[in-house]
Amino acid sequence: MARKILITPSILSADFARLQEEVESVEPYADWLQVDVMDGHFVPNLSFGAPVLKSLKTKLPLDVHLMVENPAERIDEFLALKVRHITFHAEVVAGTKARKDLINRIHKGGASAGIALNPETPIDDIADVLADIDLLLVMSVQPGFGGQKFLPEVLSKVRQARKEYPKLMIQMDGGIDATTAKMCIEAGADNLVSGSFIFRSSDRTMAIASLRPS
Ligand code: DX5
Repeated sequence: MARKILITPSILSADFARLQEEVESVEPYADWLQVDVMDGHFVPNLSFGAPVLKSLKTKLPLDVHLMVENPAERIDEFLALKVRHITFHAEVVAGTKARKDLINRIHKGGASAGIALNPETPIDDIADVLADIDLLLVMSVQPGFGGQKFLPEVLSKVRQARKEYPKLMIQMDGGIDATTAKMCIEAGADNLVSGSFIFRSSDRTMAIASLRPS
């Protein structure tokens, strides 16, 4: 049965001076909307937090990608905004208990839970909690900035995850455009995050359509 492919624009590359308008420009064509929360510690960039998200009005399910050193401190403020999904990074939450506690807190708060892996982090690192998460985010760039080049070596990780967990939602993020999107889908990803490709396009409707399977 063919998996539905979700397209998730990331607002990291949007014009922050017109954020509401920017969100409305993709809303009719996108499935989710990703908010890249960066703390300047886990990644060398600082983006935005819950107060900015609070100011946004959108019908799209909000997908919060926590690129922060201590996600446990951040999740309540996003759960309070009734976001659809929260992803934290395996690299900053060590041990099965800590990971399961965070996943349970996110579930109890009414959101789905995901774990993100940096390009160099193997799938086996989270073997202990893969059965507990709703989404696996396989980064195809080093997190921290939009507009980077896609790293094809991560596709083997996606193939491995898809083989072992046929039902798991597998999201990819970083350098995704009309060409790399096809590679991601072929490898087994079913949720594609794209920032600069969409927001730098003169025709965002066409850009989003070009990410979907033809
Ligand atoms: C990296 C960010 C970016 C962003 C999408 O930390 O997570 O991947 O969402 O960036 P693009 O699509 O511009 O590579």
